[in-house]
Amino acid sequence: MGELQDRVAIVTGGGRGIGLAYARGLARVGASVVIADIGDMGDAVADIREAGGIVEAVKVDVSDPVSTEKMAAFTFDRFGRIDVLINNAAHFSAIDMGPFDEIEVEEWDKCFAVNVKGSWLAAKAVTPHMKDRSYGKIINISSMTVPDGVPGFAHYVSTKAAIVGLTRALARELGAWNIAVNTLTPDYIPHDAELDAKNPGIDEMLVAGRSFQRTQVPEDMVGAAIFLASSGSDFITGQNIYVNGGRWFG
Ligand SMILES: NC(=O)c1ccc[n+]([C@@H]2O[C@H](COP(=O)([O-])OP(=O)(O)OC[C@H]3O[C@@H](n4cnc5c(N)ncnc54)[C@H](O)[C@@H]3O)[C@@H](O)[C@H]2O)c1
Repeated sequence: MGELQDRVAIVTGGGRGIGLAYARGLARVGASVVIADIGDMGDAVADIREAGGIVEAVKVDVSDPVSTEKMAAFTFDRFGRIDVLINNAAHFSAIDMGPFDEIEVEEWDKCFAVNVKGSWLAAKAVTPHMKDRSYGKIINISSMTVPDGVPGFAHYVSTKAAIVGLTRALARELGAWNIAVNTLTPDYIPHDAELDAKNPGIDEMLVAGRSFQRTQVPEDMVGAAIFLASSGSDFITGQNIYVNGGRWFG
């Protein structure tokens, strides 16, 4: 029996990158997983099924309330419950970086629409199902770019700071229904060749500042996500776990 046997988990942005690692990891410990992404999910589904996991895919734009409601309805219709939401989708790899006063208004708005509004809307869509069963786990994703205040990322950094606030507020409001809301904060995890090319030397610099001096990989996030999704963390809410190899602030 896996730790998350009979649990149902939605991973937004689970079609690639770190989201795919969460989806794989949750399925490995027995969860039925719904990957919810605006992009392609075919390979992710095939990959998890091949490993014996239970997985479905649903197209979603997390910035659209109709779409997030459909995501929750799809999951409930297919599996009859929703226990876990990982709010992982973000406008990140495809982001236009630049000095704060040169960021286009549309790019700023898109960042907030996907990263902040999207996390709020997805939480809003799943919580009625969680409230019905007086149990649930919501995991929001922040970033080490917040304490670092990384230049060129003012829009992204601001959204990821907002995620910490959203977690705190939802944790207070949803405690009455036994729904835990926590944040995971990854450090830089290079997995997108285009984005990495825009930030030469960054990984080496960050690695040098870590207790564990190696490049962070998507799988490094999975253990903490499983912990926050499982009953072992049932009295933990409103917290922020830094999964950063022991790197502190620059
Ligand atoms: N990679 C890193 O270095 C790093 C570091 C810290 C935090 N994070 C955070 O971790 C999470 C995953 O990062 P990643 O590197 O895998 O990101 P990524 O950009 O590689 O993937 C993001 C996923 O979200 C999906 N997505 C984008 N917009 C969407 C929308 N409107 N609706 C639904 N899905 C949408 C994309 O299709 C993609 O599958 C993000 O929240 C990111 O901000 C990443």
